[in-house]
Amino acid sequence: RIAGPSGLVIFGVTGDLSRKKLMPAVYDLANRGLLPPGFSLVGFARRDWEHEDFAQVVHESVKEHARTPFREEVWEQLSQGMRFVPGVFDDDEAFRTLKSTIEELDKSRGTGGNFAFYLSVPPKFFPTVVSQLKKHGLSESGEGSWRRAVIEKPFGRDLPSAQQLNAIVHDVFHPEQVFRIDHYLGKETVQNILALRFANTMFEPLWNRSYVDHVQITMAEDIGIGGRAGYYDGIGSARDVIQNHLLQLLALTAMEEPASFGAKALLTEKLKVLNAVRLPNDLGKHTVRGQYTAGWQGGLKVKGYLEEDGIDPKSKTDTFAAMRLEIDNRRWAGVPFYLRTGKRLGRRVTEIAVVFQRAPHSPFDATDTQELGQNALVIRVQPDEGITIRFGSKVPGTQMEIRDVTMDFAYGESFTESSPEAYERLLLDVLLGDANLFPRHQEVERSWEILDPVEHYWEKHGRPEQYAAGTWGPQGADQMLARDGRSWRRP
Ligand code: BG6
Repeated sequence: RIAGPSGLVIFGVTGDLSRKKLMPAVYDLANRGLLPPGFSLVGFARRDWEHEDFAQVVHESVKEHARTPFREEVWEQLSQGMRFVPGVFDDDEAFRTLKSTIEELDKSRGTGGNFAFYLSVPPKFFPTVVSQLKKHGLSESGEGSWRRAVIEKPFGRDLPSAQQLNAIVHDVFHPEQVFRIDHYLGKETVQNILALRFANTMFEPLWNRSYVDHVQITMAEDIGIGGRAGYYDGIGSARDVIQNHLLQLLALTAMEEPASFGAKALLTEKLKVLNAVRLPNDLGKHTVRGQYTAGWQGGLKVKGYLEEDGIDPKSKTDTFAAMRLEIDNRRWAGVPFYLRTGKRLGRRVTEIAVVFQRAPHSPFDATDTQELGQNALVIRVQPDEGITIRFGSKVPGTQMEIRDVTMDFAYGESFTESSPEAYERLLLDVLLGDANLFPRHQEVERSWEILDPVEHYWEKHGRPEQYAAGTWGPQGADQMLARDGRSWRRP
């Protein structure tokens, strides 16, 4: 899978995402030989830069963040195709320059008119950028050439705003031209959920309400909000990651087998299961939000959320969110899916734990099995990517004591191949026109529809519960599961 003649235009190229993820991903793809020799990268931003200044910025970002070793000859080849267009988004002159730059690259580098436009900009700029692309004749695919739009989250902050954004984008681009990035879908382990379930026979027979007690999906981060106050405050953890990453993980874990591993078939199944997701009636009991206060993390004292730079000291923004969801279909009726995410938690870990029911009957003495937990299959998305299965085993000795043991698959031990960074994989897919790993507008809108009532409920009811940085979230989250006779895993 090598991309054909093409180029990438990044709007918002001076931002963090571009520097930490996109530029290094382009270099890594080139280094792995997955880009065409004439691949070109155009930066668009409000900076007084020449092409060389831009190339220098890319160089620094690659040196700092690329995954693959730096090779002079790869850099040489790539940097010859770097161009910078200075301007603001409503500046017609800048878009005329962009157009002539693309035409020049088609001639000098053989990009063949194939360009992807990456909107790494806040949604409030979407309308201007897409209408400028249309106005200047940049958005339409030509005879035998393509134009694509890549859109970063957040896709709105609720259902109405997401619908509005989608309408704006679809007014200019055909749905097939639009690639919405959810970088979790680019992670190896996330794609492996489908391999685990549908390339094997031994898991799927158990993957249902007859054997599964509940599912826990955790995305815990140890970092705070860093320099992202402007984006994060007023948005919060549920909108930031549950609406997208966690609901996508839920969809992949719970969906039926797709007819093929193609974009349409995947959309059909993901959407079907998302449509079956139901919120519990009592949101006060089955959802929890928290906000971190000062605490200790990794031996360092860290600030509370309200003391972070740029945060409104009265902010009610959630930095932790947990909720119980049900899936109303034959496979999952009555099996709760618990979702949890938070900043400044005990450690960074993302995992999906499928927890099985206890054996319906035990021929062993209760004292022999008192330390036996429930069987579980845990997909570790990150770090330590892999899968663990937990089950009971006899403890060596003269007694029939049974205790939990684990069987482990670790990517690092089983494969010598290294995983590409999520953005690397997804950028390549955009250039190849492969939409399998990109949520479609229907999924995005449905996900907001699921989350909106929770956000409305929270808005009306009090403040988030406090939790000290470095802990596993507010007490309410533990109580929420305890009421169901369950407890959160401590990964
Ligand atoms: C982003 C969120 O989508 O994902 C961030 O906006 C979060 O708040 C990040 O930190 C986590 O990504 P990863 O790949 O480090 O788990």
